[in-house]
Order: sequence, then structure tokens, then C-alpha cells
Amino acid sequence: MQLIPILSTLTLLFSTSLAAYDANSKNNVAVYWGQGSNQESLGYYCERGDVDIVVISFINYLNSTYVGFNFGNACWGPECPLIAADIKKCQALGIKVSLSIGGDERLGDYGCTSDADGEAAAQMLYDMFSPNGNPKVTKPFGDVTIDGFDLDIENFNQKGQIAMFKKLRKLFAKEKTLILSACPQCPYPDSNVNDVMVDEEVQLDLVFMQFYSNAGCSMNNKDGFANSWKTWANFMENVTNSKDMKMYVTLQASKSNEYHTNVSWVNEQLKGKMSDSFFGGIGLWDATVATECTDTSISGVSQNYIQGMKNLLSGVYSSLVKRDEL
Ligand SMILES: *[C@@H]1O[C@H](CO)[C@@H](O)[C@H](O)[C@H]1NC(C)=O
Ligand SMILES: *[C@@H]1O[C@H](CO)[C@@H](O)[C@H](O)[C@H]1NC(C)=O
Ligand SMILES: *[C@@H]1O[C@H](CO)[C@@H](O)[C@H](O)[C@H]1NC(C)=O
Repeated sequence: MQLIPILSTLTLLFSTSLAAYDANSKNNVAVYWGQGSNQESLGYYCERGDVDIVVISFINYLNSTYVGFNFGNACWGPECPLIAADIKKCQALGIKVSLSIGGDERLGDYGCTSDADGEAAAQMLYDMFSPNGNPKVTKPFGDVTIDGFDLDIENFNQKGQIAMFKKLRKLFAKEKTLILSACPQCPYPDSNVNDVMVDEEVQLDLVFMQFYSNAGCSMNNKDGFANSWKTWANFMENVTNSKDMKMYVTLQASKSNEYHTNVSWVNEQLKGKMSDSFFGGIGLWDATVATECTDTSISGVSQNYIQGMKNLLSGVYSSLVKRDEL
């Protein structure tokens, strides 16, 4: 069952796509960036032309009195002028840049104990990541206003999340409408960000659903994934009170990870699902391993994982037919 490109070359199509985030589109590609080993600059990923949102990771320390971050080799803090310049570059290209809170709990310490704590944390985030925040507070990204915040929580502590996100929306309202997201794992129901996902007042924008790391519902498990999809589809359509929330199928991009799946496989599993009302695109952990992953599963054409996903979402592979169907 080999696939034959009807179009003479796939590679020509790669260069013509122009990325820019569109909340209503179904072909957004989001990449996490900030933790990659020997990672390229943020600007490098924005200039590729196939990324629509970058989620900088991580704010790995957060409570009512302290915010701390780790952006790998990209910044040694407390100020990050290179990242700031790159965020401007990305934003000028129409690419959104948000900031993720959480990550591996062993590499940080985050979480609140009350709604008041959550609000205090929101105020600190505003003071740090908006140029209009308290001028006495050091601003890692200088005069850049961040586009959103993401919760990638792994310590089962949901306290204060709703209060924090509501306060962030309010504080940033004079500058922009924030993109607020959460990054749950696929077992249902989620136990790290469920409350904020369903909350009527927060109105979360995006869910980066991790279809990896859990054998029962990951993308590499054909039936497990299909069943998980039904459950989450019902959640998206009938359970959450976030009316316009979009789901991004979020995948492990590292070829050496046991949950990694090739582009052709992803394309097969997503058939008939990408037209669902809540589908918004694909998320990747993370930018560095995604560009290092060379995939040849589509007709032997060599492309990296980000290109592969952008082409998949753009419908490029639907113009391929199977040899035995000719
Ligand atoms: C907040 O976190 C910092 C850094 O981990 C810690 O030193 C401080 O005690 C924490 N404060 C509260 C109120 O938990
Ligand atoms: C949402 O609920 C309706 C009414 O119960 C049901 O018909 C539909 O299948 C549900 N949606 C999903 C995706 O399960
Ligand atoms: C893609 O992955 C699937 C599932 O692991 C595998 O069966 C298939 O052979 C792979 N395709 C290629 C071309 O490697």
C-alpha cells in the first residue's frame, strides 16, 4: 500500500504555506519551546513558516509571592532580551507566543493554596509580562506583551487556577484578549486542569490534549485513541462550559520516545476527526525534537515532524491516493 504523490513534488508545497494563528482555523500548529537541549532560538521556529503558536516553557516556580522560570539555553535571566526580540519577530509574523506554567514537578515548585493566592500570582505575572505592569518589577521580556498563558500542571493541585486565569484575563484586558490554554493528559477525567477547562467564567481558548505517555489512550494505540477521542469529543461538545474552546491533538515529537508515531499513522488516525467542531490543530512537544525528527512515512518524502503536521493539517496528504486504489 504505497502512496503516490499526485502532485509532482510535495516539497514544493512546504515553502508556500504561510503560518499565522487563526482561532477559527483547523490547521494551527503549536509547538512547545524552551526546554529543548541545544535548542535553536525562538525566532528560528517562527521564521520556518509552519508554526502558528509557540508556547514558551516553563514558568516552573509559582505561588502567591514568587515567580521563577527556566527557558533552557535561551536565557539565564533575570532578563531575556534575545527572547524578547524574537517574540516581537514572531508577533509581527502573526504568530502567537504564550507562556506555560508548570512542567515536570521535580524541576520546579508551583501551585497555589487558595483563590487569593491565585490572584496574587496573576498580579505578579502581569507585572512581569506586561509593559504596563508595576515598573518596579523586573520584566524578563522587556516591553513585549505576552499573548497568553498555559497550564501544564503535573502535581494534581488545581487550587487557585480559576481565580488566577480570571484575574489574568481582567488585568490584560486593556492590552489584548489573552489566549488561555491548558495541557491535560488523555485519561478521562483529567486531574490537573479539569476545573479550569470546564469553568464558565474563564472560557479557556485552547486545550493541548496530550495523546502520549498513557498507554490506554495514546496515539500509538489505535483503538485506545479512537475510544479516548469519543470521550473527549463528548467532553468538548457536552461537558465543558468553555463554548469556543478548541482541542489541539498534542503529540510527542521525539522519535526515540515510545509514544512517538509517524506522520502517516497520525494522518490515518485523524481521518474523519479533523472536521469535528472543536478540532483546532496539532500541538507538539517540543520544537527542538520535532525539527530533529526526520519522517519519511509519506511516500518516502523526507520532511521533519513540524512540516509533516502542517502538511497533514493543510490537506496535502488527502491528494495522495493509495496505489491499490488506482
Ligand atoms: C514561594 O516559593 C518560593 C520559592 O520556591 C519559596 O521560597 C516561598 O517560601 C514560597 N512562598 C509561599 C507563600 O509558599
Ligand atoms: C452530545 O450530546 C448529545 C445529546 O445527548 C449526543 O447526541 C451527542 O452524541 C454528544 N456528543 C458527543 C460527541 O458525544
Ligand atoms: C508508521 O507507523 C506505523 C505504526 O507504527 C507502522 O505500522 C508503519 O509501518 C509506519 N510507516 C512507515 C512508512 O514507517
